[in-house]
Amino acid sequence: MLVKKLKEDFQSFDGQDITLQGWVRTNRNSKALGFIELNDGSCFGNVQVVYYQESTKNYEAISKITLGSAIEVKGKLVCTPDSKQPFEIQAGSIEVLGLSDHDYPLQKKRHSFEYMREIPHVRPRANTYYAIFRLRSVLSMAIHTFFQDRGFVYVHTPIITGNDAEGAGECFTVTTREDNKYEEDFFGKHAQLTVSGQLHVEPFALTYRNVYTFGPTFRAENSNTTRHASEFWMIEPELAFADLSDNMDCIEEMIKYCINYCLEHAPEEMAFFEKMIDKDCIKRVKAVAASHFKRMTYTEAIEHLEKAKDQFENKNIYWGMDLQSEHERYICEKVVNGPVFLIDYPKEIKAFYMRVNEDQKTVAACDLLVPYVGELVGGSQREERYDVLVEKLKELNISQEPLQWYLDLRRFGGCKHSGFGLGFDRMLMYLSGIQNIRDVEPYPRTPRNLIF
Ligand code: 4AD
Ligand code: MG
Repeated sequence: MLVKKLKEDFQSFDGQDITLQGWVRTNRNSKALGFIELNDGSCFGNVQVVYYQESTKNYEAISKITLGSAIEVKGKLVCTPDSKQPFEIQAGSIEVLGLSDHDYPLQKKRHSFEYMREIPHVRPRANTYYAIFRLRSVLSMAIHTFFQDRGFVYVHTPIITGNDAEGAGECFTVTTREDNKYEEDFFGKHAQLTVSGQLHVEPFALTYRNVYTFGPTFRAENSNTTRHASEFWMIEPELAFADLSDNMDCIEEMIKYCINYCLEHAPEEMAFFEKMIDKDCIKRVKAVAASHFKRMTYTEAIEHLEKAKDQFENKNIYWGMDLQSEHERYICEKVVNGPVFLIDYPKEIKAFYMRVNEDQKTVAACDLLVPYVGELVGGSQREERYDVLVEKLKELNISQEPLQWYLDLRRFGGCKHSGFGLGFDRMLMYLSGIQNIRDVEPYPRTPRNLIF
């Protein structure tokens, strides 16, 4: 029997014999009776198991069961309308399936996030991680449901690739050689781990119209911040016959859908975050789901930043600069106080594939900035004009030959199209209020940090 099922319908099990397996969260006892808080993994929260000196076999041994041990309980479910929990299990017998040693690293107290990062094999059993990793699963489902319900085709783009999609040169090289020579080392070709599935998904948008890819991506940037990881998951939809405004409509609808889906499908986890991590968590995300996301040009953002420049560490504000996190946060936290799309960035600071606007100075890009997290989504309308794209590659000194297949799409029935990338791990931070990306990833990979 699963605790989740009992919780949903405990009254109909009143007085019945039940068998449960799970892990001991706490075990306290006196001479006459003891209590085990048992978690069986099926839902958030524990079930209370009561054992008695008089009637439970092996009372002495049971009272010594250590935290983290795996046990099987056979007993009776009894409704307890007058106590904190609506029912408990009165144990007839408790069998130890796997005793936890005395150096079990979780104790019944709050451990620091730093300590927990050292023990990724055990930390999912602590409430914060137990909640966040289930929310990860629920959020994945939200994303798939959102796109599948709207007819988007899910495309598996490759992890090993021959191109650096963003042109930022921040790639991990893949090698089959042991001498660490990085030229043509993937069986005679140069290969790297993907930084984005975008270029590989675009051909599918020009086939199925609306598509998405959702998988791990890798960045070799040496950024030691709370929001950058070397390996993170990204959702990258691509929409044919869609311009920048259609793209932003899709982003906004998707984020609101994901919030509502998680509130509905992970209510206990969200309530936990509100209680323990961010006291405005639910109110905050509900307000976002009910709001209209503002849109602001990069040029307007620079005007706001110039007026407030004295409060920044980097006070050198000028049109053409790449915004830093403090600037992005100022715009969404102080100017807008909510999510905001920044659009029409200077072309020099954005990737080669973004469509050049009529002013010839800016591109049809949109970054969604949100309070506390900063950049949550990066997207754009793509340059569909063959000649313009060739010129752009020349300007940026990017060699055309390896990207000829990508250019060819513009010759073989090309059309207006747009897409974006949502940082999945950052979305989890936004939903839960957890402030470090290392605490929302099961096995975080960041510079100088690789455990297991
Ligand atoms: O802005 P980025 O680099 O955009 C792209 O990769 C485009 N090719 C997406 C597209 O149009 N298909 O990354 C998209 C998002 C960012 O907004 C951010 O949320 C997240 O991915 N992201 C990271 N998350 C964690 N760690 C990192 N190092 C990240 N870099 C980007
Ligand atoms: Mg970006």
